[in-house]
Amino acid sequence: MINAPSIANCNLLEMGKQIDELVSGNVTFLHIDLMDGHYVPNLAFPITIVKEIKTKYPQLALDVHLMVSNPQDYIDRLKEYGADYVSFHIDSTSFSVRHLKNIRNLGMKAGIVINPSQRIDIIEPLIDYLDYVVLMTVEPGFAGQKFMEGSLERLEELNRLRERYKASFLISIDGGVDYPKAIESLKRGADILVTGIYVVFNQPDGITNACFRFDKEM
Ligand code: DX5
Ligand code: ZN
Repeated sequence: MINAPSIANCNLLEMGKQIDELVSGNVTFLHIDLMDGHYVPNLAFPITIVKEIKTKYPQLALDVHLMVSNPQDYIDRLKEYGADYVSFHIDSTSFSVRHLKNIRNLGMKAGIVINPSQRIDIIEPLIDYLDYVVLMTVEPGFAGQKFMEGSLERLEELNRLRERYKASFLISIDGGVDYPKAIESLKRGADILVTGIYVVFNQPDGITNACFRFDKEM
């Protein structure tokens, strides 16, 4: 299980300190949402945040989740800035295969994201080009939402599809992950859990303790 805290949940005025606390809690994988105010009705983080975080924390694997209308315009710069994993939404482009190949050719892990309203089998034509699939368990765009009804069944379907194709892509669950949903998701084949306010942030004993607790409980 990979705990992937999402910095969309950070207090913007304290982000540096909060990332230090995540690192102290043995976090090795960080989820970075980039939102363009167009694909989703929210705006978050200039792409240079990736460079700033990688420079200060080279040991962290940076998982960039593009919620943008033109993912192709980000890929080269994400490589330059030190991203390790890059995912984009399947409906954000007509050229998913090209972009997945491009991400891989640059030496990064390539992921596709599917929204709650999209069929799971939409990824079938992409299987050979995928390192991971991000299953949105909320509508994308805002941190702190509730894990959507039906998501665990969708995860089961995705896991079955992976087995059917004998594919090896990882499955990441993104949105509203709390303890009960995390446990159920792991049972159903999730590999990466994107965590936010229900697990890591806003905890009474602080971020570092919350990270240790999560590792222990999972
Ligand atoms: C939603 C984002 C998520 C979110 C996760 O659009 O993609 O990464 O920040 O955080 P929580 O767990 O608070 O939903
Ligand atoms: Zn995300």
